[in-house]
Amino acid sequence: MAKVYLVGAGPGAPDLLTVRAARVLATATVVFHDALVHPETLALAKAARLVDVGKRAGRVSTEQRFINRALVEAAKANGGVVRLKGGDPMVFGRAQEEIDALEAAGIEVEIVPGITAALAASADLGVSLTRRGIARTVVLATARVGRDEDASGWIAAALAADTTFLYMAGAQAAAIAVALIGAGKPASTPVAIVESASLDAAQRWVGTLAGLSLEAPRMHGGPAILAVGEVFAHSRVAALLSPAVAA
Ligand SMILES: C[S@@+](CC[C@H](N)C(=O)[O-])C[C@H]1O[C@@H](n2cnc3c(N)ncnc32)[C@H](O)[C@@H]1O
Repeated sequence: MAKVYLVGAGPGAPDLLTVRAARVLATATVVFHDALVHPETLALAKAARLVDVGKRAGRVSTEQRFINRALVEAAKANGGVVRLKGGDPMVFGRAQEEIDALEAAGIEVEIVPGITAALAASADLGVSLTRRGIARTVVLATARVGRDEDASGWIAAALAADTTFLYMAGAQAAAIAVALIGAGKPASTPVAIVESASLDAAQRWVGTLAGLSLEAPRMHGGPAILAVGEVFAHSRVAALLSPAVAA
C-alpha cells in the first residue's frame, strides 16, 4: 500500500527535529516542504527531490488543493514520500485536509510529530505554561479564521484558559489585545510575543494586554506567536523590558 509520512520539522532549529523524523527524511525520495524549514533539516533528505510548497498569502485554498493532489500523485508513483511541515503537523498545519485526500485515494498516512511553536516559545521564555498555583489550562488558538468559521471562538477560549497561545498573530497582535480587553480580560494580564522561537534570530517581548493594545512591538518579519496569561509575568526576559514596553 502506498504511504506518505506527514512529518513535523519542529519550530526552526534543526536540532529540535525528532530522531524518527531524521530517519524518515534520510530514506525519502521526495519531500514536499513548508517555506520556513531550515536548510540543515532539508539536507537530511540526501537522496530526495525537494519541492517547496510554502503557501503565499491570498492563495491559500488553491494551493492546498494543489498540495493534496501532488501528494496523492507522488505516493502513487514512488515510495518514500514525505510531507514536511513546520512545528507539529497536527497544529494549525491543515494536516487533516491532506490526510483526508490521501486516505480517500487509498494511501496510508503515518504522522511523525514535531515540537510546536508554543512549546518552543515557552522554552525560549523560560516559563512553565502550567506553573503550579497559577495555571492549569493551556489553549492553542488562532484569531485568524477561514470563510464559514466562527470568528469569536478564540476569544471565549482565551477568556476561559489560564494560558493561551495565539498562532499567526504577528500582524494582528494589537487588535487581539483590544478584543481581549473588550471581552473582559484584565488589561493588566501579562503577554509575551516570541518571533522565530528556537533560532538564533529569536526576538522576545513581554508586556501587558494594555501595552500591546496601544502599540505592538516592531518585530523582524519572522513567524511570531502571542502568549497571554499570568505565567508570563515570570518570564526571564521581563528584566530586559523598557518602561514603555512594560506599560
Ligand atoms: C500555519 S501555523 C503552523 C504552526 C505549526 N504547525 C506549529 O505546530 O508550530 C504558523 C504559525 O506558527 C507560529 N510559528 C511557527 N514557527 C514559529 C517560531 N519559530 N516562532 C514563533 N512562532 C512560530 C506563528 O504564529 C506562525 O504564524
